[in-house]
Amino acid sequence: MASTVSFSPANVQMLQARSGHGHAALGSCSAVPRAGPRLRSTAVRVSSEQEAAAAVRVPSGRTIEECEADAVAGRFPAPPPLVRPKAPEGTPEIRPLDMTKRPRRNRKSPALRAAFQETTISPANFVLPLFIHEGEDDAPIGAMPGCYRLGWRHGLLDEVYKARDVGVNSFVLFPKVPDALKTPTGDEAYNDNGLVPRTIRLLKDKFPDIVIYTDVALDPYSSDGHDGIVREDGVIMNDETVYQLCKQAVSQARAGADVVSPSDMMDGRVGALRAALDAEGFHDVSIMSYTAKYASSFYGPFREALDSNPRFGDKKTYQMNPANYREALIETAADEAEGADILLVKPGLPYLDVIRLLRDNSALPIAAYQVSGEYSMIKAGGALGMIDEQKVMMESLMCLRRAGTDIILTYFARQAAGVLCGMGSK
Ligand code: PBG
Repeated sequence: MASTVSFSPANVQMLQARSGHGHAALGSCSAVPRAGPRLRSTAVRVSSEQEAAAAVRVPSGRTIEECEADAVAGRFPAPPPLVRPKAPEGTPEIRPLDMTKRPRRNRKSPALRAAFQETTISPANFVLPLFIHEGEDDAPIGAMPGCYRLGWRHGLLDEVYKARDVGVNSFVLFPKVPDALKTPTGDEAYNDNGLVPRTIRLLKDKFPDIVIYTDVALDPYSSDGHDGIVREDGVIMNDETVYQLCKQAVSQARAGADVVSPSDMMDGRVGALRAALDAEGFHDVSIMSYTAKYASSFYGPFREALDSNPRFGDKKTYQMNPANYREALIETAADEAEGADILLVKPGLPYLDVIRLLRDNSALPIAAYQVSGEYSMIKAGGALGMIDEQKVMMESLMCLRRAGTDIILTYFARQAAGVLCGMGSK
């Protein structure tokens, strides 16, 4: 998940040529054109069978010494002619610019470009968010084409099955909770038989090796639609909310969650969650902290998906001001000190500078959340024929990697992993 070095076929081509192995299992799905190494050198012994086959195909009957003598005497087989590609008529005849450095030299062929590619992306970098509800059938989410509130009976397991098929093994769960279960204190969040714990147990039962991330926040359970408990005067109560979040995280851990992910932005919640998890013996459960989560308008479609719009006001007293950069360092220091295992930036693409800031100031793995608004904009632009959906999708994910993320939470996880595995777009 957090590896800093990755191999692609282009990097290992030389090794393969040396060792004489063919395309050994590389474990990589990156889309690099296959240029089979041509082994001309006599120093490379492939196998006696292949040598025998070559001898049959080229029956010359002449020894190496005779061939060498011919070459020295200038009698060698004619090589293919030298070709000089023609420029179109009217191309100006000029003296070449006097430059020692021509960066285009390193971009001149697909093989060279692949060899010098600095950033790679693989399905292992993706975490697929899953919307779940109490229904048995899938319900499409209007503002997020291709996304559904998944029914536990078929849709959920089917989606996980298909994602694993293209190498996506990590999932984060977001529940759509019935209104009748929402309260001002969000107590349904730590119901051991609630939708999320039930789903975790179902998924772990069917797919024991997947990684399950959970969302820790009260908004899906709050009758106010806020991430914390709202006081009479509208203030979101910090420490009381953290108390509830601890119970929520422990309940998720008990059900089998691998990584709990506080997205609430209360102060001190990472340390409190760590202590609560440890006190219950969940030392192995990781914490992915939403370290720099901004009060963003890019969350719109998600709130529609979960019907979790705040009933009044906004989230600006706990989520960060989009104008702020330095403040992310304060959150980073706090989360590291409190024991976070992964630091997350959200949204993704509009906040690449913040991702780079965290990358350069922490040794922890960095996650980015390509949020619902980012997803929907690409889908809409593609549907309107304004952009190439698949190319923009892949580029946006690569840019998140380039900025310094290890993992990306993205609704495109399955589609993008399919592309990386050479399975086309949908
Ligand atoms: C809430 C939460 C939100 C998202 C993830 N967790 C919305 C919010 O903060 O209002 C947004 C994800 C998205 O837009 O894709 N705890």
